[in-house]
Amino acid sequence: METQIVAMGERYLKSLAACTDRSNYWEVYVNALSKISTDVKLGGVRSCLAIGPNEGRTEIEFLKHCEADISKFIGIEPDHASAEHLRTSLRSSLPGVESQVFESKIQNWEGPDEPVDLITIFQVFYYIEAGERRELLKKVHDSWIVSGGYVATLALSDNKCAISRIYRNLGYTEPSWEEIEADFLKAGFTKYCEQKMHERADYTDPGEDLLPFFQSHFEDRIITLAKLREAVKGLPEGKVDEFHTLAVFKSTN
Ligand SMILES: C[S@@+](CC[C@H](N)C(=O)[O-])C[C@H]1O[C@@H](n2cnc3c(N)ncnc32)[C@H](O)[C@@H]1O
Repeated sequence: METQIVAMGERYLKSLAACTDRSNYWEVYVNALSKISTDVKLGGVRSCLAIGPNEGRTEIEFLKHCEADISKFIGIEPDHASAEHLRTSLRSSLPGVESQVFESKIQNWEGPDEPVDLITIFQVFYYIEAGERRELLKKVHDSWIVSGGYVATLALSDNKCAISRIYRNLGYTEPSWEEIEADFLKAGFTKYCEQKMHERADYTDPGEDLLPFFQSHFEDRIITLAKLREAVKGLPEGKVDEFHTLAVFKSTN
């Protein structure tokens, strides 16, 4: 029988924060939002489905920057501790908004009762294999989103960057941005706008605090600190470049 290693919970949340603390990700993200929000005005958006929002900080910032005036927020988050934090942040950051949080992997979720106006998929495609990603985007396009609705997505877009090399050294290859974008277009979306994000991050001397984050990419093996340190060997010391793409696609059916 295959062992399933679950690297989630409070340690995972702290690990995500530890990764972010080693970079200027948040500053670069907010900067990208300021640029994207001059084109993307989501004033007509009333309902939002967030896939893998963790505690929701990134998604809530997106909604605020793009001036979405939502009355309904649905979160699909498989990690229990993250889902609890999400419920708390929704109460304080989106008071008065009807919210539902389902603790499930998106692959196992039956979909919203009614199509929504906006879906966010931020930094989640690493956990969904290629065939499932295509199936998901088809369901999103055909049944989960209103005609003219938006899907905002954010993902690593350079597989030569340091974190991609660490993943590969550990035995994981993330989907390329080109594959993700091609799947959106194939599912029937058009690209509405795109913003590149250039982050600087430092993975020198990784500690135990980074382990749950790297472990979250593997369900069948344990990533030890020794393995992670080995995977980081050979990378340039200090700050390295990392590239992400934030894009908004529009459904046109
Ligand atoms: C790297 S975090 C990104 C969090 C947030 N979206 C952001 O950009 O800040 C990935 C999130 O996806 C969630 N996740 C992992 N596998 C998932 C799946 N199969 N379906 C939905 N969410 C998933 C994790 O629990 C985690 O909260």
